[in-house]
Amino acid sequence: MSGMTSESTVPTLELLESVEKEVLASLAGIAGDADAEAFRIKYLGKKGTLASFVKGVKDLSPDDRRVIGAKTNALFRSVEEKFKQAPWLSGKKAGDAGFDPTLPGFPFPGGSLHPLMQIRTRIRDIFVSMGFDIAYGPEVETDYHNFGALNFQANHPARDMQDTFYVTADAVLLRTHTSPVQVRVMLDRTPPIRCIIPGRVYRNEEVSARSYCLFHQVEGLYVDQHVSFADLKGTLLSFAKRFFSDSTRIKIRPSFFPFTEPSVEVDVECFLCKGKGCGLCKQSGWLEILGAGMVHPNVLANCNIDNEKYTGFAFGMGIERIALLKYGIDDIRTFYENDVRFLRQF
Ligand code: DAH
Repeated sequence: MSGMTSESTVPTLELLESVEKEVLASLAGIAGDADAEAFRIKYLGKKGTLASFVKGVKDLSPDDRRVIGAKTNALFRSVEEKFKQAPWLSGKKAGDAGFDPTLPGFPFPGGSLHPLMQIRTRIRDIFVSMGFDIAYGPEVETDYHNFGALNFQANHPARDMQDTFYVTADAVLLRTHTSPVQVRVMLDRTPPIRCIIPGRVYRNEEVSARSYCLFHQVEGLYVDQHVSFADLKGTLLSFAKRFFSDSTRIKIRPSFFPFTEPSVEVDVECFLCKGKGCGLCKQSGWLEILGAGMVHPNVLANCNIDNEKYTGFAFGMGIERIALLKYGIDDIRTFYENDVRFLRQF
């Protein structure tokens, strides 16, 4: 091409004509932001083809400059105008010139339920299908609901300042478990009571991969005439089968909680090795997932329920613990960081 330097090209009528065709074709072929930017650089940018023609006008003879110069400038402006009006640039509405309603839209990235919420929802759905309803209670609790009414003796070590976040010096605290909502529900209703209580709880523990200052529990409560330990076993077994798999077995071990008598801890057969022993279950074949028991007669009495007429069972499980086991996650803190690279995996 004659008269061409890297930044300036002396335009001719033929050159303008062929470049115009080329520009219109490639304008029509733009499919998105990346194409648009490439187009802008190639034709309209400082070193682009059209800009180099505009710069070359000064090297034309005065006669040519009048005709070819005017055409060059007109071409540059019209291409610039067409490019600006193109529908891939934001702000275009249906009905505007140049808007093409058949172009594909820009997809918005969809969110998903947090893994803890997914586990909580599954637990909830299983119990709701068995006839449990859902109750909630406050996260800022009184010492009486969190401990006293649940039969914790005054000197019980769990009341120690190390485990509990106190809001005021003694009587008001952040609940350390969802069990105080049992008390509120029993004070509020008359049996039969069958409910689950999901919620956030707080403990003044050192933050590490294994424990966090807050976590989530699902509490269960069933109070009626003739509720027995067999009902508790049957309910938890059928929960475990539905939550893990139909062949899952459970193991019930004696334990202690002030608010239940007898108290137990429940293990499920390790879902990874099916009970053979592996790293997840520390070779034992079992995973501990919840605490449970028959509601202590003192607790029923504290909640104005006739403990001669009524019995009940209760249980409580940690959602984080189940989620850590189920997804093979080794650091509880990842649940609260909201790093989308982590969350996208669920
Ligand atoms: N509240 C207990 C805890 O946080 C869990 C628990 C154990 C709840 C036994 C219960 C129960 O309702 O019966 O460790």
